[in-house]
Amino acid sequence: MSFPPGGIGAEEAWALGLPPPNVDEAAVGPVVLPPLDVGRGPGGLRAAQGRWRDLFADALYGPVPPPPDRLSITRAPVEGEGFERIAITLACGPRTFTVDAGLWLPPGRTGPVPVVAGLSFLGPAGIVPGDGFPLDPAAVVGGVATHGLVAGRLAEQIRGVHAYRWPVDLILRSGVGLLLTGYGSWCPDHPDAWFIHGVRPLMGLTDGPRRPGAISLWAWAASRLVDVAERLPEVDAARVTLAGHSRLAKAVLWATASDPRPAAVLVNNGGAGGPSLSRRNLGETLVHMAGRFPHWGARDLRTTAARPEDLPVDQHHLVACAAPRRVYVASASENWWADPRGEYEGLRAAAPAWGIGDLPPARVVMVPGAAVDAGALAWHLRPGVHEMMPWDWRRWLPFVLRA
Ligand code: GCU
Repeated sequence: MSFPPGGIGAEEAWALGLPPPNVDEAAVGPVVLPPLDVGRGPGGLRAAQGRWRDLFADALYGPVPPPPDRLSITRAPVEGEGFERIAITLACGPRTFTVDAGLWLPPGRTGPVPVVAGLSFLGPAGIVPGDGFPLDPAAVVGGVATHGLVAGRLAEQIRGVHAYRWPVDLILRSGVGLLLTGYGSWCPDHPDAWFIHGVRPLMGLTDGPRRPGAISLWAWAASRLVDVAERLPEVDAARVTLAGHSRLAKAVLWATASDPRPAAVLVNNGGAGGPSLSRRNLGETLVHMAGRFPHWGARDLRTTAARPEDLPVDQHHLVACAAPRRVYVASASENWWADPRGEYEGLRAAAPAWGIGDLPPARVVMVPGAAVDAGALAWHLRPGVHEMMPWDWRRWLPFVLRA
């Protein structure tokens, strides 16, 4: 068993006072999920979604803060790079904060285009090799240990290293635009630094019992990308698809659950706290997540995470909060840390919220390369490790374009 980047083995878990991660499907045991009571009619579903959202805010993530008082953008071409830098200025009372995004639009478009709005680890500078886009000196990023960053601060060597994760040419050629921002600029991804910059100081948030965790602040950032899309005449704001990988898959799923505007969401390798069922003890569990990343969730996450069987919801309720909009969960066959089977089962158990009752059982589809397409809900198992690849995009783009 090899450990994925970001995963831990028994020894490290022991050193952190965490249980050894289970790697054996046979040891998972029976999982009894709290029922998905979708009520009757669309009003019933909406009321149920409201209750589930509140439960997730209380137990796992903390609430997503309200929108800022004001948001404005300025646009400027990035010389010679074929995309634009969007400076987003957010204001809350007297406080302001400016953060960047990149915008790529398909050439030859004839009207407003659908757009993928992505949260990424390294931001636009991470996907273009040139040096035209500034590196945010305030950003603090995690999960990219291989690039020699010191204390998570962006540096020149990250330019273009994640181009394969956001294949701009492929996306634009399909007629879809891309709006991308770096998550560490909105809320530093470090337990000792997450309150010093970005959304927390902007909103004047404190560490009270109902504090939003970092996943909620990144979800808030994703909603601001929808605000930006609404201000771009070249973009069809009714066709915004949120996208994120790993911890940012958790954030965009929570954003879609919390904000009715995104038309669809691409949840890539989201694992624990994303689409994976919390009651399945395989790979990372909520306890591991809360123990290693205490800033990601609600203040008392460590306590609630210790007994997932007592939670009034499981992650299928989170997926179901997105109904009737479209959800694509993408898993990878060698990504046991994220529990690919748990990701699929989270999606499958949510399907009744769409009136879809018959997705194939997990044991049938857990084959590298397999895919399930149920219209509004889709899933695949990319052969390979914890990553986001062009292989995934070739399957996502037709889904993004689906009305
Ligand atoms: C770690 C963490 C995961 C997370 C991942 C990532 O592996 O345990 O929960 O999804 O980092 O964001 O890459």
